[in-house]
Amino acid sequence: MKITTVTGKLGTFVEVAYEDVKSSNKKIEDLKKKKVFEGKKGQVFPNVFSDESVIYLGLGKKAESSLEDLRLGFCKLGAELNKSKVDKASFDLGQIKGLTVEEAAEAIVEGLLQSEYSFDKFLSEKKERSLKEFALITKDKDKEVKAIIKEVTSVIGGVFLARDLVNEPAMYMTPTALANAAKELEKLGVEVEVHGQKEIEKLGMKAFLAVAKGSEQEPKLIIMKWNGDKRSKDKTALVGKGLTYDSGGYGIKSTGGMVDMHSDMAGSASVIGVFKALAENKVKKNVVGIIAACENMISGGAYKNGDIISSMAGKSIHIGSTDAEGRLTLADALYYIATKEKPNRIIDIATLTGAVIGALGGITTGIVSNDDDFAYDVVRAGNEVGEPAWLLPLNDKYRDMVKGTFSDLLNSQVGSAKGGGAITAGAFLENFVEDTPWVHMDIAGTSYNSAAEGYLPKGGTGVPVKTLYHYIKTRK
Ligand code: BES
Ligand code: ZN
Ligand code: ZN
Repeated sequence: MKITTVTGKLGTFVEVAYEDVKSSNKKIEDLKKKKVFEGKKGQVFPNVFSDESVIYLGLGKKAESSLEDLRLGFCKLGAELNKSKVDKASFDLGQIKGLTVEEAAEAIVEGLLQSEYSFDKFLSEKKERSLKEFALITKDKDKEVKAIIKEVTSVIGGVFLARDLVNEPAMYMTPTALANAAKELEKLGVEVEVHGQKEIEKLGMKAFLAVAKGSEQEPKLIIMKWNGDKRSKDKTALVGKGLTYDSGGYGIKSTGGMVDMHSDMAGSASVIGVFKALAENKVKKNVVGIIAACENMISGGAYKNGDIISSMAGKSIHIGSTDAEGRLTLADALYYIATKEKPNRIIDIATLTGAVIGALGGITTGIVSNDDDFAYDVVRAGNEVGEPAWLLPLNDKYRDMVKGTFSDLLNSQVGSAKGGGAITAGAFLENFVEDTPWVHMDIAGTSYNSAAEGYLPKGGTGVPVKTLYHYIKTRK
């Protein structure tokens, strides 16, 4: 679907209605009285009884109507227009009250685009979409709305790219394939470096290499740079967990726990997705991204439960569980970026723990940080784009839980000191950031859905591409 701007009606005309506000359209008021269409949140009614082609969209109670409701409503509308085989539709932005035209346009464009995602490359029958054009009637804000359409289309393109990378089975989405996906960004002006086994050995990334040891796939260290503001030295680092498959290693997972573990690279997929959007929109900020990509497998050469390994930082780590592998790859990636790039701040994004799902479910991303103000800025950015996140506590009691007896650190607590797994994972990572302001986002629950929810599809969700883009772009 192409989203355009026009000055007059085109194709099927969309009208919105609130549950508790009298509509100026008599037909809508009639339908409300008959309780056929009441203007409830996300309610869609194609009025086939009308002479002209119209469709009504409910936005619920006016005072309670949020930007998120607009995204959801227009996503449902987009799906319904396709179901009704409509090819052209239009909507007058002036119909939305209580928001600026820009705010409304941003949410509406996103909602419409969200209705288009599908991962159908393995299906013999592809899903056909009838809707070819959706036009926004803009009056005096045409230039602004055009710019919003362009930017939102690109950000949602980043979200869709992240979903595609996550949904791809691990048999294809290997560390090499993930590196190639990053390389694609060179076309947009992103600098991309990829290092293989030899160079990773030379760098001394022993924790990363321990995880990769059981796999036949070569590990890849992927580094991306977007220098959108050459006059500034300020730089944000994004570190993505890139386990293209997590079998658990010798701490092997059950079939049910393993089946979706091709998605254990969702953090790195979100980093690639946000770089695409940053570069396409030429965002005037400097960002460096790093992914330590590998598989966690079993083989005669794999690392074992009970091993004591080393790391690039020189800290020794007792392997309480080979299934707590993400923090090992991240430890070296964080230390590399903190020492070689010296960024002003680091955000890592990782499908790190089942425990965060226990704490927050699939709705909210868990955050652990060494800098509350920084963390709240990320939480705020998430709230503004409809990707909720919440800061978990971090104190010395948790920090003590990751200290070892025979090693500096433990990757997993064995015995009595259990619980708080989403936080202790963060406490472990903190040892590798060299006091750089740091936010850790645990997206184990939010990056992958077992069923469609709102405008998020089943499978990869692309969370938190929108948060990262919004945070980086708007940071003062
Ligand atoms: N990749 C998993 C975390 C995960 C679980 C992501 C479910 C998405 C859905 C991670 O590597 C893992 O296995 N973590 C262990 C850590 C434990 C052994 C300390 C976990 O959460 O059980
Ligand atoms: Zn694991
Ligand atoms: Zn994992």
